[in-house]
Amino acid sequence: MPRLADGFVAELKDRIDLHDLISRYVQLKKSGSSWVGLSPFNKEKTPSFYVHPIKGFFNCFSSGEKGDGITFVQKMENLDFYEAIEYLSREFSFPLRFQEGTSSSQPLGQSIRKELFTLQETVKDWFSEQMKTEGVESEVARKYWLEERSFSRNIASDFGVGYAPTDRFALGRFLKSKAVPEKLLVKSGLFYERKNQADWVSIFCGRLMIPIREKLGRICGFTGRKLSVTPEWGEKKAPKYVNSPETPIFHKGQLLFNLDLANKEINENKDFLLVEGQLDSIRCYTEGFKTTVAPQGTAFKDTQAELLRKSNPRRVVCLLDGDQAGQKAALSYVPIFLKAGLDARFATLPVGSDPDQLLVNHGKETLQKIIEQGEPMVTYVCGKILSNKPTPQEKRKVTDFFFPPFSEMESLVIRDSYLNDLAEALNVPPQAVKSDFQKFIRNRKPAYQERSSTPSTQNVEPKPTERLTTAEDDLLYCLLHDVRLGSSLAQIIDPSWLDTKVTAGRILGKILAEILADGPLDGNEMEELLESDDERFIFQNLLFQETEEGNDTSVMETANHCISALFAKSSRKAEKKLLSYLNHPNLENPSTTELRSQLKLIRNSRNSPPQITENELDPKL
Ligand code: GTP
Ligand code: MN
Repeated sequence: MPRLADGFVAELKDRIDLHDLISRYVQLKKSGSSWVGLSPFNKEKTPSFYVHPIKGFFNCFSSGEKGDGITFVQKMENLDFYEAIEYLSREFSFPLRFQEGTSSSQPLGQSIRKELFTLQETVKDWFSEQMKTEGVESEVARKYWLEERSFSRNIASDFGVGYAPTDRFALGRFLKSKAVPEKLLVKSGLFYERKNQADWVSIFCGRLMIPIREKLGRICGFTGRKLSVTPEWGEKKAPKYVNSPETPIFHKGQLLFNLDLANKEINENKDFLLVEGQLDSIRCYTEGFKTTVAPQGTAFKDTQAELLRKSNPRRVVCLLDGDQAGQKAALSYVPIFLKAGLDARFATLPVGSDPDQLLVNHGKETLQKIIEQGEPMVTYVCGKILSNKPTPQEKRKVTDFFFPPFSEMESLVIRDSYLNDLAEALNVPPQAVKSDFQKFIRNRKPAYQERSSTPSTQNVEPKPTERLTTAEDDLLYCLLHDVRLGSSLAQIIDPSWLDTKVTAGRILGKILAEILADGPLDGNEMEELLESDDERFIFQNLLFQETEEGNDTSVMETANHCISALFAKSSRKAEKKLLSYLNHPNLENPSTTELRSQLKLIRNSRNSPPQITENELDPKL
C-alpha cells in the first residue's frame, strides 16, 4: 500500500491558510492576532470560535473542539484522515507525495467508501468513452445531446456526461476485466442484485449518463436519462430517469446536484438558484447562473436545506415549474427553508416550461427577469392561499400554514420580522398576528404533560422537529415573566426536583438558590447569574417569548402546573427508591414499617402538590 512521504503532512499543514480554509464555513472577524466567529459545531449567539492562522490551529470554546486544518475538514466534511489530506492537497494545490517505491496511482485509503468513489470515476470514464465510440447507439446518444438538447461536446466533457450501452452485461464485463473486486461491485449501486446468475446486470441500459457529484466534487452515483434506444421494462414503460440506489457513498437526502461547483461561487451576497432537474442545473450553470443546484428528483429535505445554509448564501431562489406539481412542491419547501433559517424567494416559470427550455428558447435575460420577480416566502404563500378579497377563513389558513414552522425558528429577531410581514400581507395589525401566534405556542401541549397523560408512549422518541418544552423551561418562562414568583418558588421547589441536564433546570437552580440565600432578584440580576452561551440563549428565548395580553392569571396557573409536574416527578422517584428498599431489605435500611409509612406519606401528598397563591407574591418587586 502506498504511504505518504515522510514529512508530507507537516508540509501540507504549513501550506494551509487556515483563515482561507475556515472562512469558507464561518464568517470570521479580526480579533487581535487571531480571528473569531460563531461556532460551526454548536449553535451559539456570542462568537466563541477562535482561529489562529499563524499558529495553525482553531479553538472552539463552546463545543470544546480544537485542532488544525486537517481536523477541521475532517469534522466539517465528515472525512477520514486520508480523505481530509487528499481534499486539502487539492484545495491548496499541494500534490500528494508518496514514499519511494510505492505508487501514487493505487488508492491510498483503506475505506470502502474511498474505493467506491474511485470506482464511480472509472465508470464515468467508461460511459464517456461509450458516448464517443463509433456505432448506431452512441450516435443516438450524441445526437440527443448535441441536437435535441443543444448542449456541446465541451459541456459533456466538463460534466462527465456519457452513454450506457443497451448491452446490460457490458459494464460488468469491463469492470471484471479490470479485476474490480466483487464486494465492491455489490456495493456500487451499478448492478441489480445477483440471484443465481454469474453475470453482473447493469441498472443503466441505453441511457444518457450524468454523473452526480457530492459536495467535495467526488462522483458518488449517476442518473440516466431515457433515450429512444432505451429498452422498455417488459410490459412496463421504462422510467424517464433512473438513479443510483442508496449506497455507502450515495445518500439522496444529503446531496444536491452541482453543489460542489455552486459552492465555489457562493458568498453572503449571492443567491443559490434551486431548480428541479439535473439537466436544468447543467444548463443554468453553463449559461452563467453558476450557483444553481438541484435536489435529486423533486423531494427537498431538511438535510438539503442544511447543506445550503452551511454555505452562507444571501438567500435561495427557487425556480419551480408553473404547473400544479411544481407549485405544490414549492409550498412544501417553505417550512423547510424557515426551519433552516434560510431566506428564500419563489420565482414562477411559465406553465409548461423549465429553466433549460427557457434558456434555450428565450435566453439568459428572460430567465434573469423571472428570477428578479421572485417573491418572498410570505407573499408567495399568501398569493397561493388568499383570493382577491380574502375571507377571515383564508387568512386563518395562512397563519395555520406559517405558525408551526415559525415556532421552530431559532432566531427570534427573524421570526419577529416574518410575523410583521405576515401582518402586512394579511392586512391586519401586527399585534393581532403576534398575539395569535403566542396563543398557538401556548396551546401546544408541553412535552411533560403529554408524557404524564400517555404513559404507554413513554419510550417513543419524539420527532426531532417537535418543540420540546420541559416543566423546567415553562417554569423559567413564568419566573421571567413575573419575577414576583421568585421567593415562593425558592421556598417550594426542592433543588432535587430540577433536572440539571436541561439548561432551564440549571438556570432555575441557580436563580432559586440565590433568592433563598439573598432575597428577591429582578430580571437583570437573574441574567447576571448565567454562565454559558447555552444558558444565555435559553434565557433570552424565554424572556422574549410574549405573554398573552390581558391574561394575568395564566402565568401563575402555568407556574402551578409546572410545580405539580415537578413535584409528581420527584415523588415518583422517591416512591421508586422506597419500593426498591422494600424489595431488597438490608441492615442499613430503616425498618420496613418505617419505609411503609414513608411510602404512604408520599402517595398521599401526591394529590396535594404545593401551590402558589396571589397573596404570596413578592410585594417588593
Ligand atoms: P428532461 O425532460 O430531460 O428535460 O428532464 P426534466 O428535468 O425537465 O424532467 P422533469 O421535469 O420531468 O423532472 C424533473 C426531475 O425529476 C428530473 O430531473 C429528475 O431528477 C426527476 N425525475 C423525472 N422523471 C423521473 C423518473 O421517471 N424517475 C426518477 N427517479 N426521477 C425522475
Ligand atoms: Mn427539461
